[in-house]
Amino acid sequence: MTVTEQQISTSVLVIGTGGGGLRAAIELAEQGIDVLALGKRSRSDAHTSLAAGGINAALATMDPEDSWQQHAADTLRESYLLANPVTVQIVTKQAARGIEDLERYGMPFAREADGRISQRFFGAHTYRRTAFAGDYTGLEIQRTLVNRAVQLNVPILDTVYVTRILTTGNRVFGAYGFDQVTGKRYLIRADAVILAAGGHTRIWRHTSSRRDENTGDSFRLAVEAGGRIRDPELVQFHPSGLIEPENAAGTLVSEAARGEGGQLRNASGERFMGRYDAERMELSTRDRVALAAYTEIKEGRGTENGGVWLDVSHLPRETIMRRLPRVYQTLLELQMLDITKEPIEIAPTAHYSMGGVWVRPEDHGTGVDGLYAIGEAASGLHGANRLGGNSLIELMVFGRIVAEDAARYSTGLQRQERSASVVGEARAEVDGLLASDGEENVRALQRALRNTMTTRAGVVRDEEGLTAGLDELSEVEDRMANLGVHPDIAGFQDLAHAFDLKASALAARATLEAALVRRETRGCHNRSDYPEPDEKLQVNLVWSGRGQVTQEEIPTIPADLTALMREVSSEGKLVE
Ligand code: FUM
Repeated sequence: MTVTEQQISTSVLVIGTGGGGLRAAIELAEQGIDVLALGKRSRSDAHTSLAAGGINAALATMDPEDSWQQHAADTLRESYLLANPVTVQIVTKQAARGIEDLERYGMPFAREADGRISQRFFGAHTYRRTAFAGDYTGLEIQRTLVNRAVQLNVPILDTVYVTRILTTGNRVFGAYGFDQVTGKRYLIRADAVILAAGGHTRIWRHTSSRRDENTGDSFRLAVEAGGRIRDPELVQFHPSGLIEPENAAGTLVSEAARGEGGQLRNASGERFMGRYDAERMELSTRDRVALAAYTEIKEGRGTENGGVWLDVSHLPRETIMRRLPRVYQTLLELQMLDITKEPIEIAPTAHYSMGGVWVRPEDHGTGVDGLYAIGEAASGLHGANRLGGNSLIELMVFGRIVAEDAARYSTGLQRQERSASVVGEARAEVDGLLASDGEENVRALQRALRNTMTTRAGVVRDEEGLTAGLDELSEVEDRMANLGVHPDIAGFQDLAHAFDLKASALAARATLEAALVRRETRGCHNRSDYPEPDEKLQVNLVWSGRGQVTQEEIPTIPADLTALMREVSSEGKLVE
């Protein structure tokens, strides 16, 4: 008999097999706690494998003056005071331990001749504190974690799509999903669930995420389970995404290219960063470099294709081949362009969700008992601008902390309540979509939604555009009632896309609604109709469903960290 629904019980379920999910699963396995990890794509190809330039910790291997306090101060200052100081201190204080864990698992960091871990500059860091492995840092971290998980026999299911987190009485009791190849259903019972399923940047057209990843799944799963979203409008646009070919538009050119000395020029060859941040030039913060590139293009100083140039051709060939091998390979593969000889045409690309599921800073609990979120799925570390390299270290630090808490929670649970009717609803949701035979095509609606987000909620936003964006989104949502979902011999991807679409629509609504409320310009959030920061909006915005946005106070920054926060002139931060 063919099993059509498999039932599995575990103590802790991890949704997502990128760096955060695997780090958490490893910690649980090392503590002897039952764990199961699920990914919607192969573990070796999780989104973390795309992370390029590096991982931060104040190891002081290159600059002895560095300290975790300075790392914290840089992170807080560059977040435009929207990062949570508690979260920031936890990550920066424990970052060295995160690197040690990776070394223990066998991570091949780049090293100096005497064996010290090399650290490079990344934008807006006071010191060199970005450790790396060429520009394949994420790939090496992912490989390292997969190897460790294999050593520990961590069970991982690679092609399972989670459709719902199961809760009763504000407490988690598992998750429901299906296999994207066979369609087999999974009912997984678990005491605790760790959500590590990424962010929502694939809802823009030019994005450094690939198809079917970062579609907002974490947002939907958390909100439907009773969680909330913090600062969905704070999305990092990375300055350097490829423009061509169209089907790879947005592909990342690592910030390491600028860290190693790459220069930005407009169509007339002018090194334009001098106009926007003369002190830090190409190593300014991402929000400023992205806005500068956007402004050059918008004001007619861009290339014919609507980009600017990033040039590394003046660097020694040896530097490029050793420290930027992925950029070199990517450009050869996608454009047959030799970056040792020619500049790269780039434009801003949606890169990272700095907001995410609301979590407590200390343990990343979501307020739903037994449900946690980590990594890009979570919020609190980055505020309105993320320092490059901080995301990978966040995975290592909070992957461990959350696993420890989930283990404690599961071990201490006196009894577990389940609800057959909640399971029935999860089954019915999948059945309903499988039975839908309407005229609307999922891919076409995804495209419509991405067009809306690109034109209405890109690098620069305003009231009129955001309002129009909400109208357009409502149209997409109406059309979603008439979907046709057609799994075929190749698999159940169409069903997965339908769930992706639901997730993206929710993430888009949260983003547009919060962006409307944030009537100011701060970091990545540029409102041309409100071009200055508003002190009253130095708060986090919490979205808890259609039309519901509230403000949340941010704890005070300790005085010793404030003292280390360098003043940076905002001159040159232009919003038309
Ligand atoms: O540009 C980069 O290498 C990206 C790094 C990051 O987003 O942390």
